[in-house]
Amino acid sequence: MRVLVAYASKNGSTAEIAERIAGELARTGADVDCVEAGTVGSLGGYDAVVLGSAVYTKRWRPSARRFVRRHRRALAGLPWWVFSSGPVGEPKPDDPRATAWLEPPRTIARVERLGARAHVVFGGRLPLQPRNFVERAMARSTPAPFADRRDWDEIVAWAAGVAAELQAGSRAGPPP
Ligand SMILES: Cc1cc2nc3c(=O)[nH]c(=O)nc-3n(C[C@H](O)[C@H](O)[C@H](O)COP(=O)(O)O)c2cc1C
Repeated sequence: MRVLVAYASKNGSTAEIAERIAGELARTGADVDCVEAGTVGSLGGYDAVVLGSAVYTKRWRPSARRFVRRHRRALAGLPWWVFSSGPVGEPKPDDPRATAWLEPPRTIARVERLGARAHVVFGGRLPLQPRNFVERAMARSTPAPFADRRDWDEIVAWAAGVAAELQAGSRAGPPP
């Protein structure tokens, strides 16, 4: 079983999530490539794909959006899963604007239309070295415990679920 984990990350934290997912899939016996989404030329030879992107101002990174566009036909014939990484700062479940901040709605609708098995949003991490005014302002206004909201147990559990679905699929054999 060959699995591609492709990611789009600006400041490295989504790449780390992708690597952890790849590690979990490899632990269960898959042969896994974990690479930046823009470097993938073809999905030939892969049995499944996991695609993840950081979210900035409600948009996926360009290389993840391009990946979906470029490989949409191949993806339609494969099992594939999607994650976004984004939310940082103090959770505000009662604030509807906070929910709007989480996801790029059109992209998510698109991957669902194209048959992704599931889409999950993981917490993100603020840039370790803020590079501009907005990033510095976010860093200043975010209490330290909420600067990195990645929950590694949640991430590993999600990857284990993907691995279980893959194993169930490979036991069942190819569709008739
Ligand atoms: C300027 C800026 C804008 C952001 N916009 C969003 C957003 O719209 N939605 C979201 O969920 N997270 C947003 N985030 C949080 C990032 O997605 C989070 O920091 C993510 O983990 C970054 O991933 P990366 O380290 O792989 O680049 C934003 C962060 C910054 C610095």
